[in-house]
Amino acid sequence: MKITVIGAGNVGATVAQRIVDKELANEVVLVDIVEGLPQGKGLDMYESAPIEGTDTQVVGSNNYADTSGSQVVVITAGIARKPGMTREQLQETNAGIVKGVTESVVAHSPQAILIVVSNPLDVMTYVAYKTSGFEKHRVIGMAGILDTARYRTFIAMELGVSVEDVQALVLGGHGDSMVPLVRYTTIAGVPLSEFLDQPTIDKLVKRTRDGGIEIVNFLKTGSAYYAPSAAAVEMVEAIVKDKKRILPCAAYLQGEYGIRDTYIGVPVKLGKKGIEQIVEVTLTAEEKAALTTSAEEVKSNIAKLKL
Ligand code: APR
Repeated sequence: MKITVIGAGNVGATVAQRIVDKELANEVVLVDIVEGLPQGKGLDMYESAPIEGTDTQVVGSNNYADTSGSQVVVITAGIARKPGMTREQLQETNAGIVKGVTESVVAHSPQAILIVVSNPLDVMTYVAYKTSGFEKHRVIGMAGILDTARYRTFIAMELGVSVEDVQALVLGGHGDSMVPLVRYTTIAGVPLSEFLDQPTIDKLVKRTRDGGIEIVNFLKTGSAYYAPSAAAVEMVEAIVKDKKRILPCAAYLQGEYGIRDTYIGVPVKLGKKGIEQIVEVTLTAEEKAALTTSAEEVKSNIAKLKL
């Protein structure tokens, strides 16, 4: 198993480290455009392997030839948000970066499954899909797991219960229009509405929507990376272990949920082939309308692309 991570910045380096710590591959290749950065971080990480007790080798490189034959490639290259910026303001710059990166990745790993993390997420996953020419099940975006993890954390904080017992699902685009499914949120199987009143739930939903900017405002020089990297690695693990996990991911829809020709967050089954099924859950008219609005927003941003 060979896994490549493109971008050796905050998200990329942490993704690579988590893959090493979990020993999910024989080899991790960390690539960046900056000379020395992936080599330095990669070697440092490899030197942690004897202490962690893992045999995953780490190779840092500026050369895509070293990524040849990767089974999974995680794309984190691009610029991150600073305070006052929306994810959409990254679009033009990151679209160029993701397009170039995808071309180089595909040339050396034509059979790979691509996991896109660069923002604005749904649009960048579309860019990777179109550029790669891969089947839709092999190009997947990471966002729903992160948004859901934030929502679960805020609920656990509010109730003083284990995060493990909060089960939830956040659909839609990775942005203000995301759709947390409150109706399907449970604490150990008991509906959330048994524990919290509507104004409190609304407050937690809003905090989830603003979860990314909350971190950006603290950090000031960049955006979140611990939870985003954990989310991307949960996807990697589901694929390399063929776990058939049901996880919210950005998927290319062709009529599911009444949505067509765009990437948007929905529950999918993840296994060794990538997306093995798009799971269609029953939505109320209101939830469906919110998902459609979110998809329209992503589509209108895709329309602005000069690919
Ligand atoms: N090829 C390879 N690497 C590149 C390229 C490129 N063409 N362009 C930029 N990079 C690298 C940068 O050199 C940098 O090391 O991508 C890395 C990005 O790292 P950070 O600036 O630390 O950003 P990070 O927090 O990792 O976020 C990366 O993921 O969550 C999203 O919104 C976030 O789009 C952003 C991306």
